[in-house]
Amino acid sequence: MLFEKIEATAGYIRARIANKPVVGIILGSGLGGLVDLIDKEVEIAYDTIPDFPVSTVEGHTGKLVFGKINGKDVMLMAGRFHYYEGYSMQEVTFPVRVMKALGVETLIVSNASGGVNPTFNIGDLMILTDHINQFPEHPLRGRNDERLGTRFPDMSQPYDHKLIELAKEIANDLNIPVRSGVYLGLQGPTFETPAEYRWIYNVGGDAVGMSTVPEVIVARHGGIKVFAISVITDLGISDSPIKITHEEVLEAANAAAPKMAAIVAEMVNRM
Ligand code: HPA
Repeated sequence: MLFEKIEATAGYIRARIANKPVVGIILGSGLGGLVDLIDKEVEIAYDTIPDFPVSTVEGHTGKLVFGKINGKDVMLMAGRFHYYEGYSMQEVTFPVRVMKALGVETLIVSNASGGVNPTFNIGDLMILTDHINQFPEHPLRGRNDERLGTRFPDMSQPYDHKLIELAKEIANDLNIPVRSGVYLGLQGPTFETPAEYRWIYNVGGDAVGMSTVPEVIVARHGGIKVFAISVITDLGISDSPIKITHEEVLEAANAAAPKMAAIVAEMVNRM
């Protein structure tokens, strides 16, 4: 059933685009400015696509943008679906399935996340080297359709090592400092308590957020290579409680977006 739905949605989109996208990009909170990376060819609003969920959260528009970055065909999701909005894991990850059906081979995921590693600062970029999945529901739970991927996917290299190296090389060339670390994904929508922040650090998380992990799992299930990068928008580890607001998250993400855009554009170029 899922397979037929994916094919139907991909067919609807295929009829509206000229070229097969090879790179997919998901924009995180406050990173909508990255949409300017693309020489736009076609935009398709989520609410016009059969079976596509529609984004509800402030700071997220909802459209697919097709076009070119440095001559390569890409598709970009401006606005993603979060589990905390009430979507099922199948809905959260459906666009990644559609990307795969359209021909996407590499997925670049961006997000805003909370800094847990005490050496991090607001505005830092963190390349994800790994993740810890703390979502309460798994996107692959249920009957497995072998046409989409194997029952027990390997997760020994969720984030492609070559892409990580490429990103570091580019960041160095562009004089943009980058961190790397482990992203711990949980459902939200509350930000974490001080004790939760300490726990996240103790179990090996460098940053925490409410997205990314489900999409990455489904991309890996489908054999898509993944690169992911966070903007650290707030800091949770501290001796005195630090208040976090969604506005601050968006502001910090917006401020760091140009640095992230420069890295992503050059990655697509050198891929
Ligand atoms: N926690 C969870 N998600 C987030 C955070 C955070 O501190 N900042 C941005 N997204």
